[in-house]
Amino acid sequence: MQSVLILGNVTKDVYLRLDNRINNFETDQNGVKWLDLGFNGSVHNYYNRVSIYGGASISLEVLSRFGLNASISGTPATFLDGQFIAKDVHTTYRYILCQNENTSHINPSEATYTTWEAPINNPDWIYIDSSAVIAPKTATAICDYLNLSQNTKLAFFIGKGINQNANHIRELLDRASIIISDAPLEQKRDNHILISGSHIEYMGRRVFWTLDNKRDLLTRFTAHLTIGASVLGALILGKDPSEALLLARANIQNSKLSSTSNLSTLERDIADDYYRVEKSSKQGNNMLEIEAVAKQLVAPGKGILAADESGGSIHKKFESMNIPDDEQHRRDYRNIFFTTPDLEKYASGVILFDETARQVADDGKTFIDYLKDRGVISGIKVDQGLVNFENSDEKYTQGLDGLSDRLKEYYEMGARFAKWRAAFEVTDHSPSEMAIQKNCEILANYAVDCQAASIVPIVEPELVYDGDYTIEQNIEYTGKILDCLFDELKKKNVNLAGCILKVNMVLAGKRQEKQSTPEEVGRATAQVLREHVPRELAGVVFLSGGQSVTQATDNLQEVTNCGPFPWGVTFSYARALQDPALKAWQGNNDNADIARGAFRERLIANANALKANK
Ligand code: 13P
Repeated sequence: MQSVLILGNVTKDVYLRLDNRINNFETDQNGVKWLDLGFNGSVHNYYNRVSIYGGASISLEVLSRFGLNASISGTPATFLDGQFIAKDVHTTYRYILCQNENTSHINPSEATYTTWEAPINNPDWIYIDSSAVIAPKTATAICDYLNLSQNTKLAFFIGKGINQNANHIRELLDRASIIISDAPLEQKRDNHILISGSHIEYMGRRVFWTLDNKRDLLTRFTAHLTIGASVLGALILGKDPSEALLLARANIQNSKLSSTSNLSTLERDIADDYYRVEKSSKQGNNMLEIEAVAKQLVAPGKGILAADESGGSIHKKFESMNIPDDEQHRRDYRNIFFTTPDLEKYASGVILFDETARQVADDGKTFIDYLKDRGVISGIKVDQGLVNFENSDEKYTQGLDGLSDRLKEYYEMGARFAKWRAAFEVTDHSPSEMAIQKNCEILANYAVDCQAASIVPIVEPELVYDGDYTIEQNIEYTGKILDCLFDELKKKNVNLAGCILKVNMVLAGKRQEKQSTPEEVGRATAQVLREHVPRELAGVVFLSGGQSVTQATDNLQEVTNCGPFPWGVTFSYARALQDPALKAWQGNNDNADIARGAFRERLIANANALKANK
């Protein structure tokens, strides 16, 4: 068994939950609120207080749970049978203040220098973790020790805020076989593992991670310590870089306050994700482009026009108006929207169907190039429709076969984002767990393929409006679907900052007697999104789903009124933007200008609904 000697400070982390306790603040004559927490190490009987060991005890726990023989230098601390045993261990207090979704921390006492005692048995590794405060003479003593004990290797997690140019720190960096940091290194080094707020990077591999709902449980400091020790433990055990990063991510994803996982659990967890990371890491350089496009798509004040009806859907639309369903009419119909004045002012992007993406505008350019010249980004629907599960009336979305090749072609044609729709109908037996799980897995696989092709995925799980369910049921089902979807996206290492969610608003079904008011829709939708959508996501866009034209606008207005949100939020309607134009056009190009006017009016009304009016 390999041994690791940890250098770091053990802390006692006292979690103080401040929510709902605002009334206990005292207000001074300047109107500033104060809360006396009595930081004397003994009085901290505060609401919902939890206190756990932190700092170096986390490195000890993680490395021990990886099966390594770990100990903390200069202390009798051990990790035995799932317990951190800290008798006679010097600890310093940290107070973690939790308010709503945010945590911050206070160190009430001066940082103490970390103690170093040269070990009697030479360890295989010395690990200076980010809780350590290393005095120059300790650095010298460690280097002297390493000179004597030639087989001992050094790993150094240099914490944020430590001066990388101080002589003794530079000496340690030069000596280290593995360097971990949560701030960029001033000097590039190949043996460096970077932990950023959104990803972990090592040897050209990149894994995305998030604290999500654990925000009030884990501070960044604790999370970074967990990641650092996990990557190190995995590398010591001979895992390759991708596997080491995935194990670290899984450890954060599974961890609870003061409790990480055993290696065997983590290994089971990541088995299925491994090749995805290998695949996406080869494309790592395009991530910046993807994130920039995603941001542009949900730019403030603009929405996305969905004009991607498949052959079957457009046929129904035209048939209802007695419009011939041929290629020319389909082209002319789409041309109306693309040539509408001010389109680029109110629309960041347009979603096309394959046929339209290959058609040309009046000026002879492809529609994609024409839209690009107008400053509008083209996207493409890439799913190939819904099919029934075997022996079931529930459906899944097909189209993964050959998807990578198609995406490559679409990128070359100029498309920069894609859409994939999964649909869930509400009946007495659906949506079932099975249908949710399967569709979310498929959506995540699609998203991976998109990002590998430098295309922003719009993932669209739609709870179909046509049903007789209540708004409460919608809250439950949409929440469940989103939880499952984001679990799958994270498992497959999808970069959420380069991904957009397209979703139904949360409202009662169309056939439900008690219809939801716009205020109810706004509140419920905002609540579900806040509770189930990770902050890292680039944006959320809504489908109109069969709501009337004005209903879709009024409801959007009320969602906006419940903002602000951590992600961009906007509309991505098909019917609610197009229907008045279709009625005006009637298949006759003499009516094209009136149709453009009707579309422009809906665009402006919905863009206006993106500004709060209450
Ligand atoms: P609706 O706005 O008509 O629901 O269409 C949006 C869409 O793109 C569905 O996939």
